[in-house]
Order: sequence, then structure tokens, then C-alpha cells
Amino acid sequence: MQKLSFKRASQADIDGILKVMQRVGYLDFRFPNQQKDKIKKQLISELKDRTILVCCSRKKVIGYSIFGPAEKFLKCPIKISKKDHAFSLGIGIDPDYQRKSIGKKLVDYSKKIATKQGFKGAYGDIASNNRASLKIQKSAGFIKIAEYDDAKRPKGIKNILVFKKFI
Ligand SMILES: CC(C)(COP(=O)(O)OP(=O)(O)OC[C@H]1O[C@@H](n2cnc3c(N)ncnc32)[C@H](O)[C@@H]1OP(=O)(O)O)[C@@H](O)C(=O)NCCC(=O)NCCS
Repeated sequence: MQKLSFKRASQADIDGILKVMQRVGYLDFRFPNQQKDKIKKQLISELKDRTILVCCSRKKVIGYSIFGPAEKFLKCPIKISKKDHAFSLGIGIDPDYQRKSIGKKLVDYSKKIATKQGFKGAYGDIASNNRASLKIQKSAGFIKIAEYDDAKRPKGIKNILVFKKFI
């Protein structure tokens, strides 16, 4: 395996991020039937209000992780403390590179950057049928704190809210 590098994404990484998002099915989930150009503009604008991190092998983007303040991005039906906490808005690893612990490394890197930004913990929400994501969050120390229906999920699939305290 080539040496991996982790960094905050810039505009130059957006095409690579889009490719990974396409390959893991995130584009169809979040931007169904939207033109690539429009999605690209949207992601470029999102560099301003959230943290987008990438993992690269040589210069190729092979994974992304996105988070922002829970106060701004986390909508959930239960009362939780959002202040000073991050919310994970998504993680994806190119299928050619999955199951090589890269997702885990990217979660660890995300935690490091979120801690540097002053966040005291993080939330994530995961579809109840997403075994890989549930596993990666669990091995990163996240614990399940709630389970509820969410309109963004297909019928019968619950939203699992997970939490990890950093300090
Ligand atoms: C979830 C995802 C990021 C995991 O990335 P990855 O690099 O393959 O994960 P890792 O190799 O670091 O594996 C982490 C753990 O998950 C387990 N795992 C990974 N893929 C799995 C799968 N398909 N089924 C079951 N377990 C899986 C690994 O065995 C490992 O478990 P361990 O801690 O017991 O060793 C990746 O599968 C992905 O991009 N999925 C599609 C996008 C997605 O669903 N994102 C999350 C919602 S936004």
C-alpha cells in the first residue's frame, strides 16, 4: 500500500472527493438527479462552513470525512447538548481501498482536527443497516445514545445517533 496522507481539503480536491462520493453512493443519496456541476459548486461553498478532510494515496483522493458544529447541523428529536460538539456529516472510502483500516485512520484524524478546533466531543448518525459504518464508529469509541425514525432514511431503516466525548 502506498503511503497515505491526511489533510484539510481545498477546492483542488473537490473533483477527487466527488469521485469517491459517487463510488460509495453518497451523491445519489444526497443529491439525487442533480447535475455534477451544480453539486461541485455546492461542495465548494461547503468548504466555508464545515470541515472537509481527505485521505490521499500519492495525490489521489481515496477518502473524505466531513464534520461541522452540531448546533448548526444536527437535527434530532431528543434533547442533547450540542454546544461545543461536532457532528459528522459523512465519511467515505473508495471501494478499492475499503477494509484496509483507512476509514479508522480517517476517523482518528477527524477527531484530532475537531479537538484542535475546540470541540469537546462529537455526534454521528448512521443508518441502522450500515454495518460498516456502525462498526467503524464503535471501534473509534462512539456509543449509541438514541435510535429514531428519520425522513432521510428509507422506510424501516432507523437513524442511530452515536456520541463520543473527546476530553
Ligand atoms: C464505512 C466506511 C467508511 C468504512 O471504511 P473502511 O476503510 O472500509 O473501514 P476500516 O477498514 O477502517 O474498518 C473499520 C471496521 O469496520 C469493519 N468493516 C469495514 N467494512 C465492513 C463491512 N462492509 N461490513 C462489516 N464490517 C466492516 C472492519 O472490519 C473494521 O472492524 P474492526 O474494528 O473490528 O477491525 C466504508 O465502508 C464506506 O465508505 N462506506 C460507504 C459510505 C458510508 O456508508 N459512509 C458512512 C455513512 S456517511
